[in-house]
Amino acid sequence: MSLISAESLSKTFKIYERGEGVKGYLKSFVSRDYKEVEAVKDLDLKIGQGEIIGYIGSNGAGKSTTVKMLTGILEPSSGTIEVRNLNPHKQRKKNAMNIGVVFGQKTQLWWDLPVRESFKLLKQIYEVSDDDYEKRMEEFKEVLDLDEFLDQPVRKLSLGQKMRCELAASFLHNPPIVYLDEPTIGLDVSVKEKIREFIKEKNQKDDTTVMLTTHDIGDIEDLCERIVVLDKGRKIYDGRLEKLVNSFSSRRLLIDLKNRKELKVDFEGIEQINQDDLEAEILFDRNKISASRIMKKILNNYEIHDFKVREPDIEEVVKKIYREGLDNE
Ligand SMILES: Nc1ncnc2c1ncn2[C@@H]1O[C@H](COP(=O)(O)OP(=O)(O)OP(=O)(O)O)[C@@H](O)[C@H]1O
Ligand SMILES: [Mg+2]
Repeated sequence: MSLISAESLSKTFKIYERGEGVKGYLKSFVSRDYKEVEAVKDLDLKIGQGEIIGYIGSNGAGKSTTVKMLTGILEPSSGTIEVRNLNPHKQRKKNAMNIGVVFGQKTQLWWDLPVRESFKLLKQIYEVSDDDYEKRMEEFKEVLDLDEFLDQPVRKLSLGQKMRCELAASFLHNPPIVYLDEPTIGLDVSVKEKIREFIKEKNQKDDTTVMLTTHDIGDIEDLCERIVVLDKGRKIYDGRLEKLVNSFSSRRLLIDLKNRKELKVDFEGIEQINQDDLEAEILFDRNKISASRIMKKILNNYEIHDFKVREPDIEEVVKKIYREGLDNE
């Protein structure tokens, strides 16, 4: 059974338009012209317990809007959502006990309070027992390295420090579901790694279900077996990351030639050959031909120093889906 289930979920925003200048301003009192933005359109989504799903798509695709509906902040325009048998918008308080949320662009902590005090407030709000609180704080301190700034007010923290606190705050009541909307935005590699490690650990240890929105391919590669790709409010892919990459990308074979002889290979599956003085790059479709077959043919006719096969780059793949779209499996 799914932990999170959305059916035909849609959200349309009305944006009121005002003409330019004084005339437009005055006109806005009499007539209200508006246009509608379909931020999320007919989304079906099922997420099971213990999954980490990567929710991706270009800017404005509707990712945050989806997360806001799933968390109960926004009411859907149509469609249904059930999260652990609750309607998140209508049963917002009950739902809040089941979820943790991080919006990378906002803070859930109290700006002027020392971090520790924010955590204590959350402890009370979520009715976390003293024992559990101590235990979890120890765990957070260890993986996220919070110790050095627990007594600082949030406003004095660096972005990376703040984000680590946000993450700890969202896991404080050990919710079965956590929504992370761009938790690594603007962070350096070492902080990103800490955050990924933490998410992985919570998922493995406590079977926490994670919905992760990100533009960071590293996050996805590291954490998500399943990805959902959204484009202009619609789901255009839902499946295994690996499968998407396999079905959607050319492989590259890089060959270091011993002499500068022009490489000529021409058979089915080869899409393109680029060559400079030192190296030849062959793009091929791995569903039609294997790298080893290409190599065998080349070795019959050419002398080579070295070769390597370049794995598909997920970023490229995602860009390609953004551009061209992709039917669901
Ligand atoms: N409160 C709002 N009022 C009007 N329009 C909105 C509102 N919130 C979002 N939108 C519009 O809905 C669309 C989807 O926005 P959303 O924030 O969900 O995108 P996103 O996928 O999270 O993008 P990003 O990667 O930039 O965070 C956009 O066109 C946005 O302008
Ligand atoms: Mg967003």
